[in-house]
Amino acid sequence: MNTKKFYIESYGCQMNVSDSEIVSAILTNKGLQYTHSAENADIILLNTCAIRDNAEQKIRYRLKELKKNKKENNTLIGVLGCMAERLKDQLLEEEHLVDIVAGPDAYRALPHLIEEAEDGKKAVNVILSKEETYADIAPVRLNSNGVTAFISIMRGCDNMCSFCVVPFTRGRERSRNPYSIISETKNLLNKGYKEITLLGQNVDSYFWNGDGAKKDLIKSKADNSAAINFARLLQMVAEISPELRIRFSTSHPKDMTDDVLKTIARYPNICKYIHLPIQSGSSTVLERMNRGYTAEWYLERIDTIRHYIPDGAISTDIITGFCAETEEDHQQTLAIMEKVKFDFAYMFIYSERPKTLAERKYKDDVPEEIKKRRLNEIIELQQKHSAEKIKSQIEKIHNVLIEGKSRKSNDMWMGRNSQNAVIVFPKKMHQKGEYVKVLATHCTSTTLIGESIVDNADFAKKEFIKEHHKIKPSNQ
Ligand code: SAH
Ligand code: SF4
Ligand code: F3S
Repeated sequence: MNTKKFYIESYGCQMNVSDSEIVSAILTNKGLQYTHSAENADIILLNTCAIRDNAEQKIRYRLKELKKNKKENNTLIGVLGCMAERLKDQLLEEEHLVDIVAGPDAYRALPHLIEEAEDGKKAVNVILSKEETYADIAPVRLNSNGVTAFISIMRGCDNMCSFCVVPFTRGRERSRNPYSIISETKNLLNKGYKEITLLGQNVDSYFWNGDGAKKDLIKSKADNSAAINFARLLQMVAEISPELRIRFSTSHPKDMTDDVLKTIARYPNICKYIHLPIQSGSSTVLERMNRGYTAEWYLERIDTIRHYIPDGAISTDIITGFCAETEEDHQQTLAIMEKVKFDFAYMFIYSERPKTLAERKYKDDVPEEIKKRRLNEIIELQQKHSAEKIKSQIEKIHNVLIEGKSRKSNDMWMGRNSQNAVIVFPKKMHQKGEYVKVLATHCTSTTLIGESIVDNADFAKKEFIKEHHKIKPSNQ
């Protein structure tokens, strides 16, 4: 009998990349085979995102492209993830070539759904769960560089930010058993991985007391010392090996504790980088967004991060043109950016999402051209800050983990420092997965460029600095 081949494409956030690895594990355990090419596949799966309208448009476009495969090879097409959850069987009516629709908590049912689709039935499962964390499934790492990997530590979100579709597509928040996180980490380490990123929509809300789902009941009991919060989890993972780097995403300003910051400061292998989405610099807009903090609170969190982690990098997400956002609100966003000077930012135009609080309660009333103009102003300011930040890293020595070849040159390695800055440098005798000291000598707008140096030759570093001063004055 022919082994059936499946192909999977991931859209949206890192959680989806991680979920696709879980899906691959579930399917390979049932005897299906992963293929890197859509043309060879019997089953094509799209793991989708619904966060903004353009994310969904991209999927619709991709589905049209796949019509060809469908006609020629009679391929089964499955839509997974957030768009599947949002649209449910409506997706089957709208997109006739779709055979399978599976929401984020229905992946264990996929083998069965595939069988149903093969029998010519329309196969849909969009049931959300309060418990599912796929804790026992060892993900099959797709497109892996063999050095860095994602580990989901929780699923869903209970926050109900008024603009956001995630609580509807991913369901209630639940934390994964920490011991399964530890054992997955150890497995990765044994396979040669050197860096993991712990994933959740709100990692600071991680909580385990033996039953991740009953957080609120237990949180009120301050004396529950056996419980594991995010600071504890970070510590447990960091102590596995000093050779393993730990990153995490996403932190939430209202929940990020000083304990987490102290833990990051205490362990050299926890990366000094925090992604802390601000969304807006106006407290009025933040209130309407139901974010649970004010601009002042956010600034206080930034001060505290800088107090505990003075050498850390901070990035953010910004939404512009949210309902009733005034010019004054927009100026406040620019002003807070000027105060914080983020290393990096993801910047978006507000996109109204069906069923969200904002859609029901407020008017999406900022005209498109004003949204665009505000976005451009935000992007321009951020580019200025990013350039300043990256230039300030020149002539410094960075501890870089080599992730693979540089995209632009076969003779260069690409890696990141603890602060998540990308650095490229000549390969010399170094290997992928190695930690190297790299002296940054110059930069582009997004990437540091440098030379690896021998650890114990301090004078060599000075020679390099002198040398590069002669050739290329930095901060030009
Ligand atoms: N859980 C994370 C965010 C996940 S979504 C957090 O709370 O910070 C990633 C980003 O997409 C958000 O931070 C927000 O900036 C953006 N986003 C979410 N919904 C959006 C919408 N309706 N329109 C535009 N951007 C949106
Ligand atoms: Fe969406 Fe807010 Fe949850 Fe982030 S915290 S996923 S923005 S509801
Ligand atoms: Fe998109 Fe779902 Fe992630 S909506 S951003 S794929 S949680």
